[in-house]
This record gives sequence, structure tokens and C-alpha cells, in this order.
Amino acid sequence: MALKILIPWIPTLILLHLPVISPSNFTYPAVFNFGDSNSDTGGLAAGVAFPVGAPNGETYFNKPSGRFCDGRLIIDFLMDSMDLPYLNAYLDSIGAPSFRTGCNFATGGATILPANAASLSPFSFGFQVAQFIRFKARVLELLGKDKKLQKILPLEDYFRDGLYGFDVGQNDLDGAFYSKSEDQVAAFIPTILSEFEAGVERLYNEGARNLWIHGMGPLGCLARIIATFGKDASKLDQFGCVNSHNRAAKLFNSQLHSLCAKLGSQLPQVNVTYVDIFAIKLNLIANFSQLANLMKH
Ligand SMILES: *[C@@H]1O[C@H](CO)[C@@H](O)[C@H](O)[C@H]1NC(C)=O
Ligand SMILES: *[C@@H]1O[C@H](CO)[C@@H](O)[C@H](O)[C@H]1NC(C)=O
Ligand SMILES: *[C@@H]1O[C@H](CO)[C@@H](O)[C@H](O)[C@H]1NC(C)=O
Repeated sequence: MALKILIPWIPTLILLHLPVISPSNFTYPAVFNFGDSNSDTGGLAAGVAFPVGAPNGETYFNKPSGRFCDGRLIIDFLMDSMDLPYLNAYLDSIGAPSFRTGCNFATGGATILPANAASLSPFSFGFQVAQFIRFKARVLELLGKDKKLQKILPLEDYFRDGLYGFDVGQNDLDGAFYSKSEDQVAAFIPTILSEFEAGVERLYNEGARNLWIHGMGPLGCLARIIATFGKDASKLDQFGCVNSHNRAAKLFNSQLHSLCAKLGSQLPQVNVTYVDIFAIKLNLIANFSQLANLMKH
């Protein structure tokens, strides 16, 4: 399917049910997002007072932004492309944040499978879904009592018409590699994805209809993974990334992609978009010098 590009450097979005998306009609009244540090806009910082180390927001936000990076995240560019303000974190209680155009349940370190004592974030995917369900119930209750709250809370329709974003699973595979062989990690993927499916179905039952699902990025290209697992050069691919982790990420993605197709065909009235983040990020890594030059001009 043809597709206009939303973000200049996104070459490949694989669309299942959506027709052509172009910036002119890529509009949703609100975004509800679930995930890990790839899309955390302040959740872990608020939830467990997690101090994100510098640089953290200096060059764009001029202050710590709660993001696990200095600049903006894909979710920020996505909001920009819809002319919506950046998402506030569900757990950020101070400063009377507005949730009118969405709410972010993502927290750095979150896994799909339930968190355990060693987890960085206690707010794993199932908890994020539970938080959303409570959020929605509270919003509807409050709007019923005081219409003025429409200024800061999403309208009832937004829960049906909004976009539900997902970027989660990276920490499940990342963590698994510390105690499992590559084959064992591969065998573990269906367990992870069935938990994901259960969460998405709960959201569907709550009225979610437009699903925007990110595949996993090239896990084996993370600096920490290369430092830990890539000491032996024979374990690295042509880009210097750890083969085993990238193979597992690709396997995860192919199963996630199949799950997206299944959800799209089994759930009535649902639109599922699977976004091939692996290809996008690998392109950034492999072609960084050309792309960096392009951005200078
Ligand atoms: C979005 O816009 C394109 C052209 O700009 C059009 O072909 C397509 O049908 C539109 N899609 C929807 C869902 O309105
Ligand atoms: C989503 O699906 C519904 C029903 O299948 C359809 O009417 C609607 O146009 C779709 N929305 C988008 C943005 O594609
Ligand atoms: C790097 O860029 C070239 C030329 O645009 C492209 O063919 C290639 O697929 C890119 N590499 C990756 C890993 O995406």
C-alpha cells in the first residue's frame, strides 16, 4: 500500500487495515499510549521518582523532561504531526496536567510480562492497561458531575475515536537474554505476546478501535547490549550489532506482525497499524552519516 511519510526518516510503515495515511488526514482527537522508555514522557520519573541522568532535556526542553533521552521521542513527533500537545504521563500528578488530548501510561523499563522484584518499573503492561481502565472510568464519572472538566479531560467519544499506541516488549527480550540461551529466548516469545494480546483485548473491550503498534527496534544495536554481549567480534553483524539479540527482535516482530493481522481480522471494527520500527532504526544506524548530512542541508 502506498503511504506518505509522517516523519521524514520513517521509510517503512506496514499497514494492515488503515487505508492511505497522509499528514492531512492522520488526525485523532486523543492518543492513549502504553509502553517502555521508547515512549515514556515522564511516567517512571513520576511513578518511582526515577532520576534520569544527564543529558536529559537540556537541548530541547531546557529542563529534565522525564524522557530517557535528551531530545524528543517518536511519540512526540507523532503528536506534533497531529498538531496535538505532547502527552502527559498518567502518573504525573503535579502541575494540573491536561489529559484532554490523551494520556501516556508508558514507563521506562516496563515489560509486557508482570514485573518482579528485579524490575526497574513496577508498571508492566497489564498494570498500564488497568491504569487506563481506571482513568477512563474516572474521566466519565467526573465529566458526568462537572462539564467544565472537558477543558482538561478527554470527551467520552475520544475513547472510541482516539489512537491507542503501543511500544513494549523490548525489556522482556533484553532481560531474558541474561538468563536464557537464544533458543530459549525464542521459545519464550509466544508467552510474552499472549500477555500482550490479552491486554490489547481488554482495551478493545473498553472501546479502543484504532491501534498503532510499534515493532521492536534492533535490540542488538543498543550500546549496553554490545558492551555486554558483543566482546567477541564473531557475534556481531556488519553494523557492529549483536546478532543473537537482533535475530530475537526480528522473530518477535514477525510474530507481533501476525498477531496484528489476527487482531485486525478477529476484532470487529478495529484498525490496526503495525509500524516496522526495526527497519526504521536500523536504517538510522546503518546510514547515519548520510542521514546526518541530509539533515544539515
Ligand atoms: C486520506 O487522504 C488520502 C489523500 O490525501 C485519501 O486518498 C484517503 O482516502 C484518506 N483516508 C481517509 C481515511 O480519509
Ligand atoms: C477504522 O475502521 C472503521 C470501521 O471499520 C472505519 O469506518 C474507519 O474509517 C477506520 N478509520 C480509519 C482512520 O481508518
Ligand atoms: C541505507 O540506505 C540505502 C540507500 O538509501 C538503503 O538501500 C539501505 O536499505 C539502507 N540500509 C538500511 C539498513 O536500512
